[in-house]
Amino acid sequence: MTILVTGATGQVGRHVVAQLAAAGERVRAMTRAAMPAAMPAAMPAAVPAGVEVVRGDLLKPESVAAALSGVDRLYLFPEPRTATEVVDAAVRAGVRRVVTLSSGAVSAGLDDDFQLPVERAVEASGLEWTHLRPGEFASNTLKLFGPPIRASRAVRYCNPDWRGLPIHEAEAYSPTSVPELTVEEWDAMLRPLPTVEEVTGRPARTYARWVRDNVEEFR
Ligand SMILES: NC(=O)c1ccc[n+]([C@@H]2O[C@H](COP(=O)([O-])OP(=O)(O)OC[C@H]3O[C@@H](n4cnc5c(N)ncnc54)[C@H](OP(=O)(O)O)[C@@H]3O)[C@@H](O)[C@H]2O)c1
Repeated sequence: MTILVTGATGQVGRHVVAQLAAAGERVRAMTRAAMPAAMPAAMPAAVPAGVEVVRGDLLKPESVAAALSGVDRLYLFPEPRTATEVVDAAVRAGVRRVVTLSSGAVSAGLDDDFQLPVERAVEASGLEWTHLRPGEFASNTLKLFGPPIRASRAVRYCNPDWRGLPIHEAEAYSPTSVPELTVEEWDAMLRPLPTVEEVTGRPARTYARWVRDNVEEFR
């Protein structure tokens, strides 16, 4: 059976596509881009052979309904405005499980109107579900550090001592949250959280590894 990946060209979705395909799953990658039959220009060059690419827009639920034909599992990029209609289409298509890309902001009680409505629509559907609630993706530094590095080969940032827990998008599972704390309080607060290795069974990719994986973006 087929897994539909929405947000498939995104920083996270591209890893979902690649890792599911590598695991031998039948993957259908959805994009809003106009495309030739095989692969749209917007899809990363690394889209594995055999991945089916379909056009769909979460803001046009009827287009998602078409993409859901024969699908039994759905990876859902969050779009709160049409979440209910999209999930209804998934139910009608016979989808069994939905995995939502949500956010640690929900766990922290900081999200009322973006991720939470999507989670609620999924939970109300009666389908099996898994909500992924990551804290901070390393890819945020593309926007933050990318422009100064490209312009002057230097990181320019107002708070160089800031301690975050950015995770590689390829393992976007670990929940983290960032209220204002001292370094000692921060360390103490993080200790009870599961590590990437505890969640995935594999050592975490470091930020240095993420930079190596994405170094072309900074040139
Ligand atoms: N950044 C963080 O630190 C952080 C922390 C916690 C959670 N998150 C979660 O991660 C999400 C961002 O994921 P990401 O980094 O993979 O996003 P991204 O790189 O911005 O990619 C989003 C993808 O979604 C697709 N998309 C956007 N609107 C769409 C629509 N209406 N219909 C269908 N596809 C649509 C786009 O693909 P096409 O243009 O090809 O259609 C785009 O490639 C956030 O919204 C949040 O839920 C992020």
